Amino acid sequence: MEKGKFIVIEGIDGSGVTTEAVKLKEYVATKLNLPVHLTKEPTDGPVGGLIRTILAKRVGAPSHNGKFESIDPRCLALLFAADRLDHLEVDILPKLEGGVVVICDRYILSSLAYQSLNVDRRWLEQINAKAITPDLTIYLQVPPLVAERRRNQARWHVELYEETPKLQKVAENYVEAIDELRRRGQRVEIVDGNRPMREVQRDIIAAVKPILTTRAGSGRKRPKPPAGEPRLNMVFPSDNQSEEKEALAP
Ligand code: TYD
Repeated sequence: MEKGKFIVIEGIDGSGVTTEAVKLKEYVATKLNLPVHLTKEPTDGPVGGLIRTILAKRVGAPSHNGKFESIDPRCLALLFAADRLDHLEVDILPKLEGGVVVICDRYILSSLAYQSLNVDRRWLEQINAKAITPDLTIYLQVPPLVAERRRNQARWHVELYEETPKLQKVAENYVEAIDELRRRGQRVEIVDGNRPMREVQRDIIAAVKPILTTRAGSGRKRPKPPAGEPRLNMVFPSDNQSEEKEALAP
């Protein structure tokens, strides 16, 4: 069976990553008619749960200078990397093997952009070296002040990284890391997220389509009946069934 494609969506907090990931999933399922699974990092798994309590500033420890501080940034970086490997093992890889398109809301690039605020990027790459490379990463580029405005409209609590000066640096880190990944041959598309949603979605679809509609990426598309032939009332495996269930069936 043809493997599924692995697509990642990235951006600073408030850039619209989660919204766009949901929209993209709908598009892949309904317009491209492919089995698709949407997932996110940090995950809802055991390590992801711990990360979320740290991001919500609910855990910390007295540091060597006696002050109560959040967890050491290197330990947090290791937790993100551990969560990612667990995510791959229990969720992403089985879905890809089963021919399902996987859309992931944040992945390694988030670690390279956020954790490099306090941690060496080379080391971050090393601890993430066992995590597979996505077929495509889309970076939603939104000015940090615009992202702040959006966050303020949508949320009433502030997480660890949700401060504009930090996110300004994170945005710079994203651009640097993307340059580096592209130099190494990884496919990363930058989409201007500071526009009406319709335009943003159009560009995301334009980036994703060539990957999903090549022969390799469209293994589960319905074949069109040859011109002139009557349409047979054929039932394809994806008919009346939701996404990955059928694709994973033996
Ligand atoms: P976010 O994706 O906004 O999720 P939610 O909408 O549930 O709050 O928040 C996750 C935060 O974690 C975000 O600030 C980015 C950060 N993060 C990292 O710092 N490193 C990583 O590797 C990942 C995956 C996320």
